[in-house]
Amino acid sequence: MSEKLETIKEQIIECVKCDLCKTRTNSVPGKGNFQSDVIFVGEAPGKNEDQYGEPFIGVAGKKLSAALEEVGISREEVYITNIVKCRPPKNRVPTTTERSTCQEYLKQEISIIKPEIICILGNTAFNSLLGGSEITKFRGKVVQKDNQLYFLTVHPAATIYNQELIKILKKDIVKLFEIIVELKNDRKVQIDIDYTA
Ligand code: URA
Repeated sequence: MSEKLETIKEQIIECVKCDLCKTRTNSVPGKGNFQSDVIFVGEAPGKNEDQYGEPFIGVAGKKLSAALEEVGISREEVYITNIVKCRPPKNRVPTTTERSTCQEYLKQEISIIKPEIICILGNTAFNSLLGGSEITKFRGKVVQKDNQLYFLTVHPAATIYNQELIKILKKDIVKLFEIIVELKNDRKVQIDIDYTA
């Protein structure tokens, strides 16, 4: 792991910047390949993640891994993180204050990894990073903002009891990795929404 990421990880582990530190078992820094072309961003750790200090290792994580396997990618090959690094009690949606308090960590993860594209998983990440809502309407789309590309898809947890959504997640992940190939080959990709325009 890069030294800089290791430093951020330590800061996250010891973080007491908001009240979530009082109820967490472990904070959950991002994990994976710091040379990844893509960062996956979820909402916040759940019960399993809180217990083991690793992102997306519960049922939702299995859905994400399965979707990645569709394109022959293992989770170790990519970087996975969350908007908020500590579990909100009873898995409630993190508040605006919790999100903004935590955002510096994600900013730093992004600036160190410099991914070609950030894959937004679900509404909380969509709202926190791009001010958007209704991810099911916008999923599958490529967004450009401040010289950074984003790809929108549904949250893996939403696919747990919904066979249609798991198909959609898999289809989106296929598209995401096609886009990454294009980007790596310096070919233009279609921007669906340009926030900088
Ligand atoms: N849901 C998330 O958004 N993140 C995790 O790490 C686990 C479940």
